[in-house]
Amino acid sequence: MAEKVLVTREIPEAGLRLLEDFDVTVLFERPPERGELLEAVRGANGILPTVTEKMDAEVMDTAGEGLKVIANMAVGYDNVDVEAARERDIVVTNTPEVLTETTADTTFMLLLAAARRLGEAERLLRSGKWDAWGPKQLLGPDVWGKKLGLVGLGRIGQAVARRSSGFRMEVLYYDQYRNEGVEEELGARYLELDDLLRESDFVSIHTPLTPETRHLISERELGLMQPTSVLVNASRGPVVDEAALADALENKRIFAAGLDVYEEEPKVHSKLLELENVVLAPHIGSASIETRDKMAALAAENLRAVLRGEEPKTPVGE
Ligand code: GLV
Repeated sequence: MAEKVLVTREIPEAGLRLLEDFDVTVLFERPPERGELLEAVRGANGILPTVTEKMDAEVMDTAGEGLKVIANMAVGYDNVDVEAARERDIVVTNTPEVLTETTADTTFMLLLAAARRLGEAERLLRSGKWDAWGPKQLLGPDVWGKKLGLVGLGRIGQAVARRSSGFRMEVLYYDQYRNEGVEEELGARYLELDDLLRESDFVSIHTPLTPETRHLISERELGLMQPTSVLVNASRGPVVDEAALADALENKRIFAAGLDVYEEEPKVHSKLLELENVVLAPHIGSASIETRDKMAALAAENLRAVLRGEEPKTPVGE
């Protein structure tokens, strides 16, 4: 009998096509409610979730002993309790690399849009209140030639650094691990986090969400940034204390922010929604046509490999 696979959201065909040998249930276009998820996982041998589904011990136990693999369709896997999976011999996989360049594009888009006030500019134009070109209208800081501070120099951080060379930016970085090979290749300078925040014109976050990085950027850290500086976050919302960021933006302690991720998605701090100096995107970091196909395919390949008793391409934590 074909093994049972639960796909929690409607994913691109490029992924579903690879699961034809299995008895596949695809849930919804929208995220399933918790009760719907628990109902649907019963008896699953493999689950292909996205970032909107929490994969905790309860989900694993509800699925039952036959559950062999959780193939997350995301590079970040803070939605999966990896320890609980390990205890139950469930393999967890993610989708690194295929989304690196696209997420770096999103990061640069937010950085440029926040600096040059694109959201505010478009709102002005659409409101019908734009009456003329203005010599002092909607001015923001230059991006080119400035200092870019990367918090995290993993795959995505490095791809952002490569883009910045076209803008002739100076690259600073902080990471838990210093990587001298990459430093040399990218011409990046290592700094402790506080120094990076003080020196950078643009701070962009590229860390996974872990207990150590939760609220890594809070009131104190925002206070170290310059009033002319811009913060970009396309990693995970809880790395930044959203209330502290809203305060800093409201009081012009920093110039602007560009955000793709939030502490309690899909909720966004109400103050952020009212501020002009923040560009807000709804978690679209990897949302290119090509990349979502690749993510779906990689997640499906990983799932299929484990159910066939083979090694998955990209297991987590090995
Ligand atoms: C998306 O947020 C991802 O981690 O892939």
